[in-house]
Amino acid sequence: MRNFSSHFRSLLKPLALAGIIAISAVNFSFGQEAAPADSSATASTAPSAGGGPAGDAAAGEALFKSNCGACHAIDKRVLGPALAGINQKQSNEWLHKWIKNSQGLIASGDKDAVAIFEEFNKMAMPAFPQLSDADIDNILAYVEEAGAKKPEAATAAGGATAAAEDTGVSSFMIIGLVAVVLIAFLVIVVLNRVIGTLERLLVTKEAEQNVYVEDEEAEAEEKDRFRVVKQLAKNKKFVFFVVLALLITLGSFGYMDMWNTGVQTGYQPVQPIKFSHQLHAGTNQIDCQYCHSGAWKSKNATIPSLNICMNCHKYVQATDKYNGEISPEIQKIYTALDYNPETQKYGNNTRPIEWVRIHNLPDLAYFNHSQHVSVAGIECQKCHGPIQEMEEVYQYSPLTMKWCINCHKETEVNSKGNAYYDKVIAAHDSIKKGEKVTAAVLGGLECGKCHY
Ligand code: HEC
Ligand code: HEC
Ligand code: HEC
Ligand code: HEC
Ligand code: HEC
Ligand code: HEC
Repeated sequence: MRNFSSHFRSLLKPLALAGIIAISAVNFSFGQEAAPADSSATASTAPSAGGGPAGDAAAGEALFKSNCGACHAIDKRVLGPALAGINQKQSNEWLHKWIKNSQGLIASGDKDAVAIFEEFNKMAMPAFPQLSDADIDNILAYVEEAGAKKPEAATAAGGATAAAEDTGVSSFMIIGLVAVVLIAFLVIVVLNRVIGTLERLLVTKEAEQNVYVEDEEAEAEEKDRFRVVKQLAKNKKFVFFVVLALLITLGSFGYMDMWNTGVQTGYQPVQPIKFSHQLHAGTNQIDCQYCHSGAWKSKNATIPSLNICMNCHKYVQATDKYNGEISPEIQKIYTALDYNPETQKYGNNTRPIEWVRIHNLPDLAYFNHSQHVSVAGIECQKCHGPIQEMEEVYQYSPLTMKWCINCHKETEVNSKGNAYYDKVIAAHDSIKKGEKVTAAVLGGLECGKCHY
């Protein structure tokens, strides 16, 4: 029985150790979070390409993405060839002719044009008569610059996703855990004292009873064990501390659990077609805008219609993976559109693909994509995580009110060179001058301001 308190003391040591490990682990993980933010800053300055075509690469980027990005990437073959180094491969004059009307150039018998056409199984690249010479020079300047920048851009993107991964939830949990360990530690120290006092009490009682004990020593040892429990149960302080410890433990678990009800982080339903963002947005570098153009213009990001898939999947059938047969997943697109790949004709028996919605705010909350994507310039990945690495999309952020509010407290508004704020400032100036300002000037004609 006298060993009881030393048992407790021996318990203290591993607990103290666990506490120290937990605390140093927290320090370590906070230290880690701070590190990548700095290192990504160095990668942003890239050398501009010397000797490229005369054109505005920034203007070219937008033109490239909307006209060419579906079929071309800079450093990878998509539907058409990779375009890096194209300015060295062909003359500027040839490129202008090709882009304006590749079929015309092929028909004229140009050797290079026929060769590349044959190489790509006579897949016709659309003509772009609407592009001016200046537009084409801008696109070619962008291709030149992006070709030179590519390796560095890749490392910068790596840094950015690492920084985006840090969310508030984990530090909250860690602090909670440390608190639980500390409280357990305190309770044990207090208990230890209580037991010490109890022991002293028992020792004096034993001394009084010593005379009777001699014969029944073994039996008494047996009884003693229960007596300790009984004595402890009678001790109000002890019972109080046990109940308190239980309450704190259960309470903190309950608290964490309640915070997480209705939070769908990690939700990853099975979709009707095995569509992979990793393959399309990652490997093939198709821009998000190609499929979710609504995110820039309206409240909803929108899921693309199957016609957008058909821009590529009319030709891309992944037959090499299925012994010359059309991929069963791509066949699902054809079936839904009632498309016959043999005759290349569409029938009337169409039915929509029922994509399972992943992100879904309750109706009482209003969230507008264009306000965040176009006005604030926030990257999709900041809220949706590394989509371009996801084989199947899952919900990355908690989408709680706390999540919205925290970001609004932290993020500075970018009003310089921002068309949205130019309008607001102009309206503000007009009001100051006493001129008439209508609600329309403040965006009251935008569909998304009134409609879900
Ligand atoms: C619908 C898909 C598609 C679109 C859109 C497209 N291309 Fe192409 N492009 C191709 C294909 C396929 C080829 C390979 C030649 C062929 O089969 O006609 C090609 C070839 C090229 C070539 C020749 C490459 C070489 O190595 O000789 C250039 C240059 C080119 N495209 C530039 C552009 C530009 C610039 C745009 C945007 C204004 C664009 N393409 C839009 C599909 C496309
Ligand atoms: C080739 C077309 C295509 C491209 C490119 C594409 N997506 Fe998607 N996206 C889809 C389709 C189809 C779905 C619905 C099926 C699914 O959830 O996988 C979807 C679903 C999503 C969802 C989940 C929607 C929901 O139900 O809540 C998010 C978020 C998303 N995409 C973000 C992105 C981002 C960010 C990019 C760019 C990095 C991107 N997508 C590029 C076609 C595309
Ligand atoms: C810009 C061109 C492009 C667009 C647009 C596009 N895809 Fe693809 N898709 C590809 C390429 C390239 C592959 C790889 C084919 C291969 O592996 O040979 C592919 C592969 C796939 C596969 C895998 C096939 C398999 O069995 O391996 C599926 C499924 C698919 N796409 C569905 C879709 C859907 C659904 C959409 C529309 C939301 C879409 N794709 C839009 C280019 C595109
Ligand atoms: C500020 C955070 C944030 C950013 C930035 C953001 N999204 Fe979203 N996204 C959300 C939220 C919140 C929802 C759920 C909206 C709802 O349920 O009304 C959502 C829903 C979606 C959906 C499901 C369909 C829909 O329209 O509701 C798609 C697809 C999507 N986002 C794509 C994108 C793409 C692509 C980008 C980048 C251009 C992007 N998002 C940028 C927060 C964001
Ligand atoms: C990644 C940071 C971020 C997240 C997460 C975020 N927002 Fe925002 N939000 C912003 C920024 C920055 C602005 C200011 C944009 C501007 O300049 O108008 C903004 C603006 C808004 C506005 C317009 C405010 C006004 O008066 O013009 C609304 C409404 C809004 N957000 C709703 C939401 C909701 C709802 C959520 C959560 C579902 C959310 N936001 C999540 C960054 C964020
Ligand atoms: C100032 C607010 C406001 C703006 C801006 C606005 N709408 Fe509406 N819209 C309404 C209201 C209110 C109704 C319902 C009217 C009714 O039921 O009689 C409506 C009804 C509609 C309907 C009919 C819906 C139905 O089921 O009957 C369509 C379609 C529509 N709007 C489209 C648009 C489009 C597209 C835009 C942007 C170009 C737009 N609206 C801009 C307020 C607005």
